[in-house]
Amino acid sequence: MVWNKKDLQETVLSKIGSHKFIIVSNREPYVHTFQGEEIHCEPPPSGMAIALDPVMKVSGGIWVAHGAGDADREVVDSSDHVKVPPDNPHYTLRRVWLTKEEEEGYYYGFSNEALWPLSHIAYSRPIFNEAQWQIYKRVNEKFAQVILEELNGDTGFVFIQDYHFALLPRILKEIRPDIMVAQFWHIPWPNPEVFKVCPWAEEILDGLLGNDLLCFHILYHCQNFLEAVDSMIEAKIDREKSSVIRGGRETFVKPFPISVDFEEINTLGQASDLDEKVKKIRRELGLKDRLIGIGIDRVDYIKGIPDRLRAVDLFFEKYPEYLGKFTFLQLGPLSRIHIQKYKEYNDEINHIMVETNLKYGFKDWKPIVLRKAYFNLKEEMVYYRLANVCVVSSLHDGMNLVAKEFVAARSDGDGVLILSQFTGSARELTDAVLVNPYATDDFAHALKTALEMPAEERKTRMRKMREVVQENNIYKWAGKIISEFKKVEPRQPASSRPV
Ligand code: G6P
Repeated sequence: MVWNKKDLQETVLSKIGSHKFIIVSNREPYVHTFQGEEIHCEPPPSGMAIALDPVMKVSGGIWVAHGAGDADREVVDSSDHVKVPPDNPHYTLRRVWLTKEEEEGYYYGFSNEALWPLSHIAYSRPIFNEAQWQIYKRVNEKFAQVILEELNGDTGFVFIQDYHFALLPRILKEIRPDIMVAQFWHIPWPNPEVFKVCPWAEEILDGLLGNDLLCFHILYHCQNFLEAVDSMIEAKIDREKSSVIRGGRETFVKPFPISVDFEEINTLGQASDLDEKVKKIRRELGLKDRLIGIGIDRVDYIKGIPDRLRAVDLFFEKYPEYLGKFTFLQLGPLSRIHIQKYKEYNDEINHIMVETNLKYGFKDWKPIVLRKAYFNLKEEMVYYRLANVCVVSSLHDGMNLVAKEFVAARSDGDGVLILSQFTGSARELTDAVLVNPYATDDFAHALKTALEMPAEERKTRMRKMREVVQENNIYKWAGKIISEFKKVEPRQPASSRPV
């Protein structure tokens, strides 16, 4: 059975019923910004936010998130609410305001300079700073207050997203043990040796064990989490049920691989003007009828962008017959640029691009074209269709939804995906050309294999990958988690403690 919006709607009705449904994340699903005098609204470049928006459109409810856009305050009501999407509202966004100091300490600091590098094997050393940790705690408490306010004493399901809120479940449960709290950790969970270096590792584990249900993309990350609990804190682990009992309360730890809205993307891929738009981009970028490779990523050091560009460089060295015949387009916005490592990473990408283009480029041809900008899904569709090859070469990635988007977008059944074996997606998309992004020689050869793959094989691989993404779509992901919510619902009486 292929899950669709209606199935999810029925699951929400039967499982959530009259409970309030609240999603919590740092990144908001819609950002309002000033462009001159005008206010614009766009989804942000966040796989997490883009994946959960279709779920909220079906389930309704409240999404609590940091209001980070410069025009966000202009559009909210007196309760800091705004209905979204603006053109066809389906749910309420409750914006939480953070001071500069809070954003520094909690978002740039502990979340992205400590937990992000700690969780990804990308050889970037985490920075643990006591002051940032204190602010991280404070911001988790701030979000808890907002959620309790939104619940207003009613029963509810609170679904927390990601590593910005490791302490939030425990804080919520201490005040409202009757509500259901689940969390999805969208990034990998490291092995215990790695995790132990965090000076506040035990507090983080305890915070997460406030959840009734804690979800990761893959079983391996669940196992890493259970190992960390086992070796670091007082708790009983039930491996049969995949749960942890601590202080008389049980937390289930389960894998749910996230996905995309296959039907929507597939329909966008059938737009009648798509071929015309592809031709326009070819003209604008001077691509003529060359073979095209694309990469679409936030500029983040886990994405393996330099490794991919180095592979492109080596590809031209090894296979000079492709000079002038293949162009690689690297697209996507700058990210977290306030952090030094991200600045250096951006410089490294620019440097490789300049060197490669100098070495091989001629007249009207550049081997690498960089466009550091955000492209919304409709704009991305044109590039997905333009590509002979889409390259996802993350050094480590919880899932990676660009890989699944590319597959869903290719309703013409063509195109080759080169995919890093270190992504969660590689476990499902086994018909991609799998690569180790560190192995530059093999990677360069994989580009050749992809470009020379016979049409029949390309189509067979793409058909199989499309079947996987169609079946394991975002509605199935959400439906399965919501059904699991119900199974693990706490049965304690409501607390009479004041908020
Ligand atoms: C990852 C995280 C998301 C985050 C996204 C973009 O996908 O799991 O929570 O929103 O990166 O990062 P940013 O820091 O810009 O929100």
